Amino acid sequence: MATKHLGDFYNKTNFWQTDRWQDLVDLAMATQLQPEKVTKWVDVGCRSGKLTKSLLEVFPHTERGVAIDQSATMLETAKKENSDPRITYLEMGTDGFHTLGETFDLAHSNFALHWVKDKAAFFESLNKSVPVGGYLMLGTCQKLPDMLMDIDAYLRKAFGIADSVEGPFHYHDMLGWAEVLRKYGWEIEAAQTKYDQHYTGDAKEFLQHWVSASSQKICYGHWFDDLSDAQKDELLATMLEKYRYEDEESFIFNEQTLLIIAKRVK
Ligand SMILES: C[S@@+](CC[C@H](N)C(=O)[O-])C[C@H]1O[C@@H](n2cnc3c(N)ncnc32)[C@H](O)[C@@H]1O
Repeated sequence: MATKHLGDFYNKTNFWQTDRWQDLVDLAMATQLQPEKVTKWVDVGCRSGKLTKSLLEVFPHTERGVAIDQSATMLETAKKENSDPRITYLEMGTDGFHTLGETFDLAHSNFALHWVKDKAAFFESLNKSVPVGGYLMLGTCQKLPDMLMDIDAYLRKAFGIADSVEGPFHYHDMLGWAEVLRKYGWEIEAAQTKYDQHYTGDAKEFLQHWVSASSQKICYGHWFDDLSDAQKDELLATMLEKYRYEDEESFIFNEQTLLIIAKRVK
């Protein structure tokens, strides 16, 4: 499998996250959050910037949006495809945006924080950047989907990595998020749990995207391309056997998503 630009993969395979994101927006609009009062926001884990740019429609009075991600290649795509004079894309970790010395009315983070182990560092950065009265719009997964657990198990076996090696996924369920938000002075105004079946389109492309975009994480230091061609074919065939959508070369799998709108109260 040839290595393609990760931003391109992402744009082709992440459409269900956009559907869930629309639910997150709808949920936010049902709270006391007043979109016309949001003029400065930060998007944490923005990837290719597709949703970052859409935030301009959700918050039409935006004067400044700062979008951060740790992936330089994703930011390259974001700057190329989703630029706007009001948006600044920055390469930065989820624990670093307070170093900008700016305050924001709202922080937005969609499908990123389950990659982040050090939630305390994220909240420290958040609380230095979003004052009391500000909002957090958070979309995240609450469990590794079964298909990704199976991929993870295959790769662990293929690379000879013991089960005791820590994975890269750091999920909280709804109770876990409620606890951590309360601890850092945030009150949940609205929350929803969604149980979805995701249809991925081209299975081979999805696998390339998922595993190569996440390879350093999911393979614990190994690259997807370290697999032999036979292993890659076997992985694809195994996953298709279990998760094929009807008679197509596509996957369908379950995912549990959490949507939370919280306000900083102290
Ligand atoms: C699944 S994507 C979500 C992108 C986008 N928010 C969306 O919903 O379409 C997760 C993004 O989080 C970024 N990310 C993960 N851990 C991060 C960290 N510690 N610091 C900054 N970005 C991180 C990844 O690079 C990736 O671009």
